[in-house]
Amino acid sequence: GKGAYDHYMLKEIHSQPTALSNTIEGRIQDGEVTFEALPAGTFEGIETVQFVACGTSYHAAMYGGQLLRAADIRTEVVRASEYESASGPVDETTLVVAVTQSGETADTLDALRTGADHGARTLAVTNVVGSTAAREADEAVYIRAGPEVGVAATKTYSSQAVSLALLTQRLADDVAHATPADDRAEMLDTLADLPDHLEQILEQNAAETLAQETIDSESYFFIGNGLGHSVALEGALKFKEITYEHAEGFASGQLKHGPLALVTENSPVIAVSTGGDDEKTKTNALEAQSRGAPIVAIGPDDTPLTDIADTHLSIPETHPVWGGLLANVQLQLFAYHAAKQLDRPIDKPRNLAKSVTVE
Ligand code: M6R
Repeated sequence: GKGAYDHYMLKEIHSQPTALSNTIEGRIQDGEVTFEALPAGTFEGIETVQFVACGTSYHAAMYGGQLLRAADIRTEVVRASEYESASGPVDETTLVVAVTQSGETADTLDALRTGADHGARTLAVTNVVGSTAAREADEAVYIRAGPEVGVAATKTYSSQAVSLALLTQRLADDVAHATPADDRAEMLDTLADLPDHLEQILEQNAAETLAQETIDSESYFFIGNGLGHSVALEGALKFKEITYEHAEGFASGQLKHGPLALVTENSPVIAVSTGGDDEKTKTNALEAQSRGAPIVAIGPDDTPLTDIADTHLSIPETHPVWGGLLANVQLQLFAYHAAKQLDRPIDKPRNLAKSVTVE
């Protein structure tokens, strides 16, 4: 049940420290990443990795895809419903990774099958043991987030992103010439602190206050660059899904190529920092600010975004690879509290289903 929480979504947001501990459990040993199902050498011969996913899982795949590219591995991140038209060449040197919480999403299964028909090797990254994706793929990695009831994916996004970051290390060990972060040991060490960092965010009520202050807005824009781009997209998806308000996410630099026309004093711009290089986000947020938009910075206290922001939602300092996950939890809380004030049916938004089994 929901226990002391008003909604499953809030319960699931608050269960992320535990869920993530389970995701990580036993998978880092002596500074090495290990997955039982993927012994050393599993990926030998792989030259290209294609992620296929939908919705929130697509955003997690974008996150993982950037880390893989940083390891010099050819990577494509494809919306599963567009696989036929948007994927590059596929053959036996291709690994198709289906990222799907339920393991039952029709578009994602279809892309997985198409990849396999072209000779690709396949991997499912899923939450559900025995799901169709897990059974059909050559191998499966379980994200171990525990059952998720709310239609809005929250804890499963965090567990997917961490699973994909770890998978990147495993792939890099087999096939790459570089590692995704030069400071791998530090990155893996700070991962162990992530559950504590999440607790620190869950104790704050800054996101609830922000929701109260912005509840009468016309539109909500979310921007970020680098790893923050996918977080901005995810923040906007969650917000529109449960509040029914107009929300859009953009790569920071794209704001001025069209969306800026919609920016007014009634459209807060939520700028995401992962603790990496935020200059692009800062200059583009300034453009929006000069059109009157309130600017909200989500990130560590030392992000340059705080110099210009009207409001700052703080995240604990961590390795830039994990900062986006912390920022995303603030965005989950922001969406939740806005939807609650608007009295929406948070766990079961209209028109949506937990798993989408039609194409
Ligand atoms: O089960 P899947 O991860 O394959 O589901 C994919 C999407 O339908 C899902 O992430 C959807 O976007 C969520 N409701 C978003 O919160």
